[in-house]
Amino acid sequence: MKENSLSPASITDNLETHFVGQRVIYYPSLTSTNEVAKREAQQGAAEGTVIIADEQTAGKGRKKRVWLSPKGNIALSVILCPDIAYLPSLIMLASLAVVNGIEAVTGLKPQVKWPNDVLINGRKVCGILIENEVLRNTVNYAIIGIGVNVNLRRTDFPEIKLTATSLSHEMGRDVSRLSVVRNLLVEMEKLYLMLRAGESIYEEWRDSLVTLGRRVSVTSGTSRYEGIAESVAEDGSLLLRHADGSLTKIVAGDATLRD
Ligand code: BTN
Repeated sequence: MKENSLSPASITDNLETHFVGQRVIYYPSLTSTNEVAKREAQQGAAEGTVIIADEQTAGKGRKKRVWLSPKGNIALSVILCPDIAYLPSLIMLASLAVVNGIEAVTGLKPQVKWPNDVLINGRKVCGILIENEVLRNTVNYAIIGIGVNVNLRRTDFPEIKLTATSLSHEMGRDVSRLSVVRNLLVEMEKLYLMLRAGESIYEEWRDSLVTLGRRVSVTSGTSRYEGIAESVAEDGSLLLRHADGSLTKIVAGDATLRD
């Protein structure tokens, strides 16, 4: 299949949003869309502006990891300027936008591994990196960086072959990046407007989690915890039940499923 174009016009034409994705800045190749999005935000880019690249040469993952971004996949960042009260919900918003966007295009039902990895059949299909600038209780900007493995051939990347998947792998055919991008932008705005209207997106996010009820190990800063992921709080924290019956509330971290 000829690779879809990700030109700004192909994304913005008749896009059913008010502001998310109404301005798109496209690069064939870029170090990191999050880095350029930060620069654009600092220079006053409008809320909803999208930076998108066909490939990234220095894609950033969480915890200073590298994110592989070869051609054929999605690497984009969205600039939002939310009220500080909504910051904890951005993790939920981003992962749900991806889950719903992928489902709309493919019919697949991805799940979220706390806090915001998107998995299909237990393997990671999307990573999300959110970077905020907050000054005196005001959010100057929040960058929602999203990388989706769309037409990634797992066998080309032995380092992630066992843990990652792609939409093309799951579907057995190439998948339109453009359709996934457009759908996830529509979903993102819908969820953002819900937040701004005071509606909760917590239940939908909680119901999409693959983590709950599972034995997990979680690293948070320099600490490491083991236990059963019992529930999540409305602020997105994970409640982990230990073997001795005690409970730890983990605000931010990385979870590995143990069974
Ligand atoms: C992770 O799972 O560790 C997060 C990966 C986030 C990758 C995306 S790709 C678009 C945006 N630009 C980056 O450099 N990183 C994010």
